[in-house]
Amino acid sequence: MDSGNLLFKQARIAEGPSQERLTAEGIIKIYTSMKVDAVAVAPMDLAAGTELLLASQKQGFPWLSANLLDSKDQPLFEPARIKKIGAVKVGIIGLTGPLKAPLSGVRQADWRTLLPDLIKKTARQCDILILLSSLPPAENQEIAREFSALHLILAAVLDSGNMIPTQVNKSLITQTDRQGKYQGVLTIDWHKNGKWGTSTNEDLSALRNRLAALNWQLQRMQQQADPQQQEYLAKVKMIEMDRDSVARQIKTAEFKEMDTTNGKKSSPAISSFSFNFVALKQSLPEAPEIRAILTGIKQQIHDMNRKVSRKEENLPFLGHDGCASCHPVQTAFWRGTSHSRAWETLQKVNQAFNLECLPCHVISSSETPVQRDQLLSLPKSLQTVGCENCHVGPGKAHAANPEQFHMRKQMEERICLSCHTPQHDNNFNYQEKVKRIACPAK
Ligand code: HEC
Ligand code: HEC
Ligand code: HEC
Ligand code: HEC
Repeated sequence: MDSGNLLFKQARIAEGPSQERLTAEGIIKIYTSMKVDAVAVAPMDLAAGTELLLASQKQGFPWLSANLLDSKDQPLFEPARIKKIGAVKVGIIGLTGPLKAPLSGVRQADWRTLLPDLIKKTARQCDILILLSSLPPAENQEIAREFSALHLILAAVLDSGNMIPTQVNKSLITQTDRQGKYQGVLTIDWHKNGKWGTSTNEDLSALRNRLAALNWQLQRMQQQADPQQQEYLAKVKMIEMDRDSVARQIKTAEFKEMDTTNGKKSSPAISSFSFNFVALKQSLPEAPEIRAILTGIKQQIHDMNRKVSRKEENLPFLGHDGCASCHPVQTAFWRGTSHSRAWETLQKVNQAFNLECLPCHVISSSETPVQRDQLLSLPKSLQTVGCENCHVGPGKAHAANPEQFHMRKQMEERICLSCHTPQHDNNFNYQEKVKRIACPAK
């Protein structure tokens, strides 16, 4: 199951063929191949309108949304479905969070008016009732308080990351981080009376192990790193927060265990759960059929974007060829660094025309962004992480009149961090790395 915000990273995309649309189609293909049971429509899924979703729905893609209606006030998507798993019937309802902008032919109904009937009707036909929702957290909680028939609310709140299950009334509310970074696994020992408890005994030893591991990690970091560094402090803080949360969970679990060992054995009819967020790292084994779909999408994007190429003249950069004549020593040094080959690196993995990769592997940076189409049409001398990525400034004017117009010489960490983000370089230490790329003085 998925609560949505699946297809696009932005709220609206331009009409016509694009890399974003190809990616969205690819995600639908991959989910289909994974035989996903239900996906709620969330606002970011509608960045290209409803067409793509309705077409895939016709092919059997299990979109759910109870509160998106067409011009005749009929649901555009299935509001709910029942899935039989073994002997258990699972009811799944979809709700779409507030749309970012009006969409033609789509009306968003208020869940407060439609949910009472829908829940009553669906609950009658199933044992477990699940809501997939991209509504704001406060509204999910309101729903949990109001509807005791709901057992689980799987949320899709942007930027909230993984959420440890919390109980509100009879429901557990939880979610996983977005963009496929994690898979949430919720293991449920189900009893029909609908009461939740946590499975304490086996969890307790796992929690104690985790606490020991975190303490060990902290100790090791304190011995190694330079305590003045911001990055180090942030990391320590995160681990400390993690440790404190685990310590609290242990307290709760110990309390419950005491309760049961005191003879007041908790009722066996209480449903218990344990959860895990599995980080989908590169190191996990691959599924060959998914890899094949991915390779196909990347190839399509490559072929489409390559055709955009045309000559660009109005760029604010001069390019390293223009700097070389006056700064031969620095240019020779730079050629020896891998920055000078950053675009070739993309070529090697067949991604040299992928707009998601280019901004960090060519001349563009967050300080001097280059427009989308221009990224695909750079002259050779700008198809690289070049002089002007770091020495920000009026390159063309400086070359014409170096005494009057100056380039930045003093480097700052933030220039590097626009590309060396934790996601792409989890090991960036400025003091150490700047030494490896700092051009020598003449
Ligand atoms: C425009 C994006 C961008 C900026 C800005 C940037 N880098 Fe990089 N850096 C890269 C990429 C991409 C690579 C990998 C290149 C490759 O292997 O093809 C890289 C590689 C490196 C390497 C490995 C070099 C080698 O030769 O092995 C170091 C060290 C480095 N960067 C340090 C820095 C520092 C320090 C800064 C800031 C002063 C910085 N980078 C600014 C994108 C950037
Ligand atoms: C936010 C900036 C950024 C984006 C976007 C980005 N990269 Fe990179 N990439 C880097 C940096 C920085 C390095 C150097 C990392 C290091 O020195 O450890 C790098 C290194 C690499 C390398 C060589 C090192 C390795 O991991 O084998 C490859 C290959 C690569 N990137 C491919 C890609 C592809 C493919 C994409 C798009 C899907 C992409 N990158 C998008 C910043 C980026
Ligand atoms: C990844 C970042 C980066 C790139 C790319 C880069 N430089 Fe540098 N450059 C530095 C750093 C860091 C220094 C040292 C600054 C200092 O002394 O504080 C430096 C110093 C210089 C200096 C001043 C030397 C001096 O001390 O007088 C010149 C000139 C220069 N670079 C030219 C270039 C040229 C030309 C290119 C492209 C061929 C280039 N740089 C590419 C980071 C970079
Ligand atoms: C026509 C020769 C010439 C060209 C072309 C040229 N520079 Fe310079 N550059 C100089 C001179 C001369 C200085 C020293 C200026 C001074 O000290 O007032 C300088 C200084 C610098 C400095 C030190 C900071 C400063 O501005 O004083 C950097 C960094 C730099 N150049 C980078 C570049 C880059 C990057 C390019 C290409 C975009 C480039 N230069 C092209 C002649 C040139």
